[in-house]
Amino acid sequence: MTKNYPTVSEDYKKSVEKAKKKLRGLIAEKNCAPLMLRLAWHSAGTFDVKSKTGGPYGTMRYAAELAHGANNGLDIAVRLLEPIKEQFPNITYADFYQLAGVVAVEITGGPEVPFHPGREDKPQPPPEGRLPDATKGSDHLRDVFGTMGLSDQDIVALSGGHTLGRCHKERSGFEGPWTANPLIFDNSYFKELLSGEKEGLLQLPTDKALLSDPVFRPLVEKYAADEDAFFADYSEAHLKLSELGFAEA
Ligand code: HEM
Repeated sequence: MTKNYPTVSEDYKKSVEKAKKKLRGLIAEKNCAPLMLRLAWHSAGTFDVKSKTGGPYGTMRYAAELAHGANNGLDIAVRLLEPIKEQFPNITYADFYQLAGVVAVEITGGPEVPFHPGREDKPQPPPEGRLPDATKGSDHLRDVFGTMGLSDQDIVALSGGHTLGRCHKERSGFEGPWTANPLIFDNSYFKELLSGEKEGLLQLPTDKALLSDPVFRPLVEKYAADEDAFFADYSEAHLKLSELGFAEA
C-alpha cells in the first residue's frame, strides 16, 4: 500500500535521532533487545485491519494493556524506557516504542528497518485476545496475522524475531531460548527449526507449525539457507507491522 507519511518538524526529527542513540545505549547496557522487540511487536500486533482499532499507538503504557496475559513481563520494558522517554516529551509513545523495536533489531546485527515518525498516541488500549496463542497451529497464525492485514510471508519472516530472546516460565509458561545466541539477530532460528529439537533450546507449537505447512515450510528453508533473503523479507515485514494503520493514503 502506498503510504502518505505525515510531515514532522525538524525538531521532532532531531529528537528521534537523539532518542535512537539513547536507546542504543540502554539496550547495550541492559541487554534488553529481545524484550524491546517483543514490546514493539505486541504493541503493533493488536491492529485489526477491519475496525482500524489497536496497533502501534502507544497504548502499551496503560496498566490495562500491560495486564493482558500475552503481555506478561512487558511492564519491565515500559519501565526501562521511561527515563529516556522523559527526556523526549515531544516524541509520542507510539513512535517511541516502535523506534525501540527498530533499534533492537539493528543493534543485535539484524537488518535496518526503515523508521518513519508521526504516529499519534491513541487514548484507548485494544481489547485483550488479539495476539497469537503459542499452543496453536497454522490456521490460528493465519487468522491472527490476517486480522492485522499481514501475509503468509510476513508470518514466517516475522517469526524469525525469535532469533532473539527466550521464554520465561513465569511470563508465558514456556522456558528457554530458540537459538544458542539469543542476543544476536541472524537466521539461526530457521536453522534450528529445521534441525529439530535440541537439549536446552525450545520450539513453540506455533514455531513447529511453520514446518508442517506447505506454504510456510519452503520459506523456512529459504531463510535457513539464505540470510540475506531473510533480512530483506524480515525488514519489509517488520516495517509493515510497525506501521499498521499508519499513514494510509
Ligand atoms: C507467531 C506467533 C508468535 C507467538 C505465538 C509468540 C510467542 C512468544 C512467547 C510465548 C514468548 C515468550 C515470552 C516470555 O516468556 O518471556 C515470546 C517471546 C518473544 N517473542 Fe514471540 N511470538 C510470536 C511472534 C513473534 C514476532 C512476530 C516477534 C517479533 C518480530 C516476536 C518476538 C519475540 C521476542 C524477541 C521474544 C523474546 C522476549 C524476551 O526474551 O524477553 N514474536 N514469543
